Amino acid sequence: MHAIGVISSYASWLPVSSATPVITLGEGNTPLLEARGLLPPKFRLWLKWEGANPTGSFKDRGMTLAVSKACEAGARAMVCASTGNTAASAAAYAARAGARAVVVVPQDAVARGKLAQARIYGARIVRVRGNFDAALAAVRQFTSQHPTVALVNSVNPYRLAGQKTAAFEVVDALGHAPDYLALPVGNAGNISAYWRGFVEYHEAGLAATRPHLLGFQAAGAAPLATGAAVDHPETLASAIRIGRPASGHLARQAVAESEGAFYAVTDAEMLAAQGRLARATGIIAELASAAPLAGVLRLAESGELRPGTEVVVVLTGHGLKDPDVLELHGGADEDSISVEAVAEALEQEARR
Ligand code: F0G
Repeated sequence: MHAIGVISSYASWLPVSSATPVITLGEGNTPLLEARGLLPPKFRLWLKWEGANPTGSFKDRGMTLAVSKACEAGARAMVCASTGNTAASAAAYAARAGARAVVVVPQDAVARGKLAQARIYGARIVRVRGNFDAALAAVRQFTSQHPTVALVNSVNPYRLAGQKTAAFEVVDALGHAPDYLALPVGNAGNISAYWRGFVEYHEAGLAATRPHLLGFQAAGAAPLATGAAVDHPETLASAIRIGRPASGHLARQAVAESEGAFYAVTDAEMLAAQGRLARATGIIAELASAAPLAGVLRLAESGELRPGTEVVVVLTGHGLKDPDVLELHGGADEDSISVEAVAEALEQEARR
């Protein structure tokens, strides 16, 4: 039978048993698309399109496992701190499980679409006067004293276990590991999860090599790229506006073992890459997801990326969640015209 969702697809690699209720929305199995025209032809560029997940981000891979295991353990409510995508995902999987979700978000710092998702899925939304790092500290403190409330941030080990399936999919699709894997880094869980997935496939003999991991942060929120925690992280890429990544130690280890690196990219570079991506491929990725593309474009230009190499860029989330950022690209609507004038307008285009 066709497996639905990452737990069914990769059960033998995950901490599940026949006693685990599988709470799924059909996450995973996302497209790996070859992108021509973004990098010079001496590189091979693939895009892992994680916006195709059920709630529009990679978070669903980890959330299916975290919520399934929480239900198995008898938890009645799920709680997380979030810059938006985790909140949307937790709310959706809690709804699917018939459980409560409480999401704690920094006030005025979450994309409108993400908040709207959490709201319609029925989550309680708690807005705090503080940033993501402060929100996470508060929920960690609370859940450490309330065992029936499951913390579903990526400090929950089931989140990373579910998210490592994306690395499996990349190798399954290519038939080998790429030379480089580039992705945005915020709280630093996902890069750690990818590394675990690549290492496990390598150890099992399913991939001869492991990729160099390239982690990209926003210049105003780049604690791993600069080596210093950031008290007041600032970037338009609100998903990765994080100054003290909870899994920073795991991410540093993963990048070191893979002989990769962390880099910072500016908001302007991300915006340019987001627009280029949309026009060249038809994909609208969110601004944070454009960080690794912006970075890879820069590294290819500067010669830091060896010609002849194969690069996978992970596009972690869907751009439609953040209409305020899309509007920064301009392109106002033309004035409306009469029905009679339509033919003339089309005629002009046909002659171009
Ligand atoms: N890309 C997107 C679209 C994200 O939403 C996030 C994190 C990341 C990248 C970074 O992943 O934290 O594992 O390093 N979003 C979290 C949230 C923090 O609350 O939705 P990470």
